[in-house]
Amino acid sequence: MEGRIEGIGKGGNGVLFFEGKPVFIPYVVDGELIEFEITGKKHSVYFGEAKKIIEASSERIEPFCKYFGKCGGCNFQHIQYEHQLNIKKKILEGNLKKIAKLKTFPEIKTIPSKSDRNYRTKLVLKIRDGKLGFFKRNSNDFIEIEECPLAENNINMAILKFKDHPKVKETKKAELFILSNGRDIRAAIKGNRYVSYLTENREVEFSFSEVSYLFSPLNFIQSNIFNLDTMLELLKEEAIKGKYDTGSDLFSGVGFFSIYISKYFEKIYSYESEEENIKAQKKNIKLNNLKNIEIIRGDIAKKKIKESDFFVVDPPRGGITGKLVKKIVSANPKKIVYFSCDSATFSRDIFYFSGENYSLKKLSILDNFPQTDHFEIFAVLEKN
Ligand SMILES: C[S@@+](CC[C@H](N)C(=O)[O-])C[C@H]1O[C@@H](n2cnc3c(N)ncnc32)[C@H](O)[C@@H]1O
Repeated sequence: MEGRIEGIGKGGNGVLFFEGKPVFIPYVVDGELIEFEITGKKHSVYFGEAKKIIEASSERIEPFCKYFGKCGGCNFQHIQYEHQLNIKKKILEGNLKKIAKLKTFPEIKTIPSKSDRNYRTKLVLKIRDGKLGFFKRNSNDFIEIEECPLAENNINMAILKFKDHPKVKETKKAELFILSNGRDIRAAIKGNRYVSYLTENREVEFSFSEVSYLFSPLNFIQSNIFNLDTMLELLKEEAIKGKYDTGSDLFSGVGFFSIYISKYFEKIYSYESEEENIKAQKKNIKLNNLKNIEIIRGDIAKKKIKESDFFVVDPPRGGITGKLVKKIVSANPKKIVYFSCDSATFSRDIFYFSGENYSLKKLSILDNFPQTDHFEIFAVLEKN
């Protein structure tokens, strides 16, 4: 069967229509004429594979990684980087119209990654029977790898070193976490009930202007090493504008955001649930000699949200959800900075915020994930 790809949708798949129903097809570019085959159906949606590219897009390029198409990590390497950014913008616009039900919104700025390769601060590899690798696309089948062109260079050197490490060789099933600050790496194997470090030191230091952080490979860290300072600066610009007294950092990890902006506030409430991150956050607060950050530990869904002028929220993929939006709004914020890594749940939350009389004032795509359909959103909301 033949069809033309009308756009790129969910999961970075191309979309065409067959018998009036959408067919999702990976590794194609919008506008391409393809020969395809249906490989599955779920409810009223089809899944397919491209058998032949009949008319290739001028945006199509040769992927640079030998594992592309097999490894489940990248799905955009066959598309020019500039065009990847156009696609991401269209995905966000679509979700804001469809899910957030917005007729108008601020112009979406795009902040590209300073490099579209070697950007990942951290890599989590699977260990299976003493070998390092990833899962294949849409499956739990293992594929052994020796490098990942998205990972920071020192991580790739570490993979070559650790693939023959006795602790890796003797491990049947676990994960290897490798973290880099661009100079040094730290690595740990995490099994079902144990953690074993492969490096003598467990933490690596990151510094941005006069602030420093210690991260272990098991802590959450933003993915793109080139955009870490960009995220901090975007946040700081908003934090210093309004002369706010109290701030709140929801889903705060190791305190990446609260610590950077703490000097502009009398008090910051920092909400986090993961013990490993809370431990690191306490250390980082001490390291920077700060006295005004109060950590509120535990599942945020069960917490009362304290009154604050300024909020920064940075949830996992699932987003904030309606209940928490209501609690945030009851805390009476003048401004909310929302970092999101999922445009669908972000748009759902924006729908809830709109219902509570908060609207979008700024909107940017911050491309923390080149060569994939993922992207970060930086948004600023204010009360109408
Ligand atoms: C996307 S990360 C953001 C971390 C931090 N803002 C940063 O920039 O490094 C989300 C964080 O939310 C935390 N988290 C996930 N679910 C949570 C919950 N129910 N309550 C509180 N924190 C949660 C995770 O442990 C993680 O640190």
